[in-house]
Amino acid sequence: MPLKIVVGAQWGDEGKGRIVDWFASQAEFVARYNGGDNAGHSVTVGSQLFKLHLIPSGIVHPQPIAILGNGMVINPESLFAEIESLEKVGVEVGPQRLRISHAAHLITPAHKALDQAMEVARGKSSIGTTGRGIGPAYTDKAARTNLRVADMLLPDFADKMRAHIESANTRLDSLDFPELEIEPILEKFAVYAERIRPFVADTAAELDAALRAGKTVLAEGAQGTLLDIDHGTYPFVTSSSTLAPAALLGLGLGMTVARDAVVSGVCKSFQTRVGSGPFPTEIEDDLALRLRGTGENPWDEYGTTTGRPRRVGWLDGVLLRYAARLNGLTELVITKLDILSGLPYIKVCTAYTKDGKTYTDLPFGPTDLEGFEAVYEQLPGWTEDVSAIRRWEALPQAARDYLDAVSKIAGVPVRLVSVGPEREQIVEANQ
Ligand code: IMP
Repeated sequence: MPLKIVVGAQWGDEGKGRIVDWFASQAEFVARYNGGDNAGHSVTVGSQLFKLHLIPSGIVHPQPIAILGNGMVINPESLFAEIESLEKVGVEVGPQRLRISHAAHLITPAHKALDQAMEVARGKSSIGTTGRGIGPAYTDKAARTNLRVADMLLPDFADKMRAHIESANTRLDSLDFPELEIEPILEKFAVYAERIRPFVADTAAELDAALRAGKTVLAEGAQGTLLDIDHGTYPFVTSSSTLAPAALLGLGLGMTVARDAVVSGVCKSFQTRVGSGPFPTEIEDDLALRLRGTGENPWDEYGTTTGRPRRVGWLDGVLLRYAARLNGLTELVITKLDILSGLPYIKVCTAYTKDGKTYTDLPFGPTDLEGFEAVYEQLPGWTEDVSAIRRWEALPQAARDYLDAVSKIAGVPVRLVSVGPEREQIVEANQ
């Protein structure tokens, strides 16, 4: 299993962090290939909860080298804050543990300010972004005007940064937002530039060499399939490619490594979404409160990055099948099975209807979900607490039937099931 890619099969927040943590014990490299600190990956080890936004979740294991790939957008302020918070709890993150691609792009205070200003300008049509500057940074990347990590190492970095903030100030001004003060930003970034220097590397070459030497590289996708810029519920998406094939581009790997790749799709046992956009299986009654949780526990359905309550609903099998196809999933990981315990019945959406016609696949993907109504299969629930179960056979029959139904709908075998937030609360499927 030299290359393993872990992706979200829904709208993000599927629990990828703790699943990456599970697989990372066997990996020599753990690598992020898309997005930035809009991601929020939680890992619980004993009594300690690690919340990671930029650094791959696998860093909490002692052996893997963590990579921030060229497909990412990196806010140095968040990066160093995260390094410090990890070091405070004993996870050492020096240049021998973390390498940052010279070709990754930067997120600056200007991108964050523009993200917020543009959301306000969108008014009722706002996307509900995380406000981390992701969209404006990728916009500048596509416009070929952005600053990259490599620029931080060059003598004219301050000049480029000044020009970048000046240009953003013109835009902020036109959006009636206060302009940014340039000098304090330049001072901060001069410090970041010195701090980042030892971490900067040709990560693509390093990963290629590792794979050729038979080492295991675990690629950690951020966000989820339905937030993908091309194939998600556009425009209510993030600005990067979140899918498994993007791991190759976002890490700088060639096609041949994909031949034997294991592609693991992480899917919550129900559906959630943060931010705006269509959600055909959304529920809003008492059951929604029950699935969401009160917010007292870190694993309740409130954003890791923003703290916003997530919208919740029944598992959408049509969208899961779509995710299986686009990512080329070879296995499924179902998370939060324990949350379904005690429900009298469980529904899974197997098709949509519109104007009297039934669709098991959407004609134009999930971009146009307007007017499509979910058709459900209703399965019996179970009353047993599953959180202490570690063997597949010990799961209640109704729970196994539910997992079998999901696997059949997706057309992908289930490999792992999580039954609680702790590291060891995992059940491996009988292969
Ligand atoms: P952005 O990535 O901050 O531009 O936000 C765009 C959309 O993606 C919004 O609906 C966000 O709520 C959503 N989003 C971004 N990152 C995550 C994530 O890690 N989990 C879930 N939703 C996310």
